[in-house]
Amino acid sequence: MKVTIFGTGYVGLVTGSCLAEVGHEVICVDIDEVKVQGLNRGMIPIYEPGLQPMVKANREAGRLRFTTDAAEAIAHGETLFIAVGTPPDEDGSADLQYVLTVARTIGRHIDRPVVVVNKSTVPVGTADQVRVAIESELTARQVELQFSVASNPEFLKEGDAINDCMRPDRIVIGSDSAEAIDRMRRLYAPFNRNHERIVVMDVRSAELTKYAANAMLATKISFMNEMANIAERVGADIEHVRQGIGSDPRIGWHFIYPGAGYGGSCFPKDVQALARTARQHHYDARLLDAVEAVNESQKEHLFELIQRHYSGSVTGKTFAIWGLAFKPNTDDMRAASSRTLLRQLWAAGATVRAFDPEARTEAAHIFGTRDDLTLCETAADALQGADALVVVTEWKQFRSPDLSTLKSALADAVVFDGRNLCEPAEMEAAGIAYFGIGRGRSL
Ligand code: UGA
Repeated sequence: MKVTIFGTGYVGLVTGSCLAEVGHEVICVDIDEVKVQGLNRGMIPIYEPGLQPMVKANREAGRLRFTTDAAEAIAHGETLFIAVGTPPDEDGSADLQYVLTVARTIGRHIDRPVVVVNKSTVPVGTADQVRVAIESELTARQVELQFSVASNPEFLKEGDAINDCMRPDRIVIGSDSAEAIDRMRRLYAPFNRNHERIVVMDVRSAELTKYAANAMLATKISFMNEMANIAERVGADIEHVRQGIGSDPRIGWHFIYPGAGYGGSCFPKDVQALARTARQHHYDARLLDAVEAVNESQKEHLFELIQRHYSGSVTGKTFAIWGLAFKPNTDDMRAASSRTLLRQLWAAGATVRAFDPEARTEAAHIFGTRDDLTLCETAADALQGADALVVVTEWKQFRSPDLSTLKSALADAVVFDGRNLCEPAEMEAAGIAYFGIGRGRSL
């Protein structure tokens, strides 16, 4: 089938590649010429395991193309996906300008019935706005055409996006058009073998489903971080508590890892945007506000532990930081906890030696050159001349550090572990002072 995807960001690129991989003919269109030229030369602007070879293979097979020519792209696709960004406005609501610009572009160029599919994370009611934007362009052109606007939210996780896309646990289709639903079913048939994964619903429910999923996951994390904070005060170990509750299938093992707070481009933005939508509809979403507030203070928790250990003075201290990305297997630092921590350390007069396997370029871009930051090539290099180590992202390579090396490298022999990768008893036995999240009395 012929598919057009607007936006070669994370969602557009992964979705386009996966649709091409199963045999569809895909054109991805973006307004960024440099990016499109790069993509046509095989340069992938993001780090995502498996994406580069998939783009390459499908480009070579002629099933995947990149262009800045919207008219050509619209002439190609019978299904037109909108997968452009919805960054937060100043008040936390999703900024729809890019989505609506694409809608108007579609309205200016379509010349046959199409299905327009919203894949961007958009507030409930956006499909109606997209429909109106397309209609107004058609009216201006004095053209009458049948088209429908469906919602098909994505549930990709960065770092595992190809797998999520190729083997989805559900495919949500929001539409009131039998024809659109049928087309989407055919498009997704290669991903829907063995058992039914497609869930069909009305457009507004599909739009809300996306926010509900992310808000639920963010809620689980903030809940566990709150339990960890209680554990630190009552002298309990949250890791035991986690094992004690995760075995209940109603609670489950996923997303109950306490840590230095959630980051990324989705949870922080989506929780805020949903709360904002609720307020626009005269509902005070107190739980969502609390999820957000707990997370914001959790991002400051590592610094709180550090301050406590150093009795409020870290001036002149050097901290080795392991992990800058908001989670492993990505170079993405949007809303990452590391950013909060580094800002706090610098404000308190400390120096940072940071290592991240993928996010160094991104970090250099965000922080620029400064005397109190060294971006190191290896984890061991970050320890050189450091007083203490802080683990911020749970990259696999940080999981079993050599404790005698740690002890001799760190002048103060102290580790602050924002992802609970180490065992307190082992650290103690190695003569290292250890502070994890929610691991016994530390406050
Ligand atoms: C999230 C959702 O998991 C995807 O299903 C969704 O499609 C995506 O947002 C989106 O809306 O596009 P992502 O932001 O890539 O995916 O990252 P997650 O793996 O969900 O992690 C988010 C944050 O939560 C990370 O900072 C991670 O460290 C933190 N986290 C996760 C915890 O602190 N504890 C946990 O138990 C799990």
